Amino acid sequence: MRHITAISDLSVQEIDALIMKARDIMANPGRYQEACRHKKLATLFYEPSTRTRLSFEAAMYELGGQVLGFSQAEASSAAKGESVADTIRTISCYADLIAMRHHKEGAPTVAAHYATVPVINAGDGGHNHPTQTLTDLLTIQMEKGRLGNMTVGLCGDLKFGRTVHSLIEAMCRYPGVRFVLISPEELKVPSYVKIPLKQGQVPYEQTTDLQSVMPRLDILYMTRVQRERFFNEDDYIRLKDSYILTPAKLELAKPDLSVMHPLPRVNEIALAIDQDPRATYFKQTLYGKYIRMALILMLLEVQA
Ligand code: NCD
Repeated sequence: MRHITAISDLSVQEIDALIMKARDIMANPGRYQEACRHKKLATLFYEPSTRTRLSFEAAMYELGGQVLGFSQAEASSAAKGESVADTIRTISCYADLIAMRHHKEGAPTVAAHYATVPVINAGDGGHNHPTQTLTDLLTIQMEKGRLGNMTVGLCGDLKFGRTVHSLIEAMCRYPGVRFVLISPEELKVPSYVKIPLKQGQVPYEQTTDLQSVMPRLDILYMTRVQRERFFNEDDYIRLKDSYILTPAKLELAKPDLSVMHPLPRVNEIALAIDQDPRATYFKQTLYGKYIRMALILMLLEVQA
């Protein structure tokens, strides 16, 4: 039995296989529509979500399986004071697979300890978000035809943005990747996230200035300032509009740049960018469903 609490739970070879499987599902959806018949996925979401929860659920339905769960902590016995451990022991009796989002860093690791079915981390606090990273890797592969040899700019809230942490951990394993980390001083990538960059001697630079680095980027990964992780609303208000991608700024970019964003967007990408062929974020959302289908098949050990 496998759990996915961090992207490093998957080898590069396994990620490649998931990407291939997702592409096969996209090309031949009919072949998979009964693959998870009589299997159940539980989605336990203690924090808000649109894409992650609904793409997991759509993924399971498209595999012929069924879904149960809750979309807010208040609707579960957590509101009565139940621990994650006890909830997970319970859900393990009802479902074959669990996808869990929680505001506390490490909660899915605790869940994995007590579960008797596989647990997938669907986002834990400001820490990790491995299935968003699988989504991002499939998107980059589809857009660029490769996962290495590129300059990846990550912009916005790099401190609390869990998608960024997992994406760095994943992409530093591919050859020829260079990172440009663009954030306000207060929202820089935490030092523990930089450890694999340093160990792998992966080139990276940190800057506060998006415009000056724009011409060099192959990927620009924009992020939302994570309001819910701030201790102080005044700090959020001061930092929330640090970066707004506008058509004028995009004029400085390569013609084949891909602008990505895990979404939800607040203000950091002007609506006019949506018409630009370099805007990739809505395609990214669709890819999220297919890579989650591939992951469900893998964890349930379904041969399809
Ligand atoms: C992200 C998340 O939840 O971390 N969203 C997502 O899963 N697509 C990014 C965010 O909330 O800003």
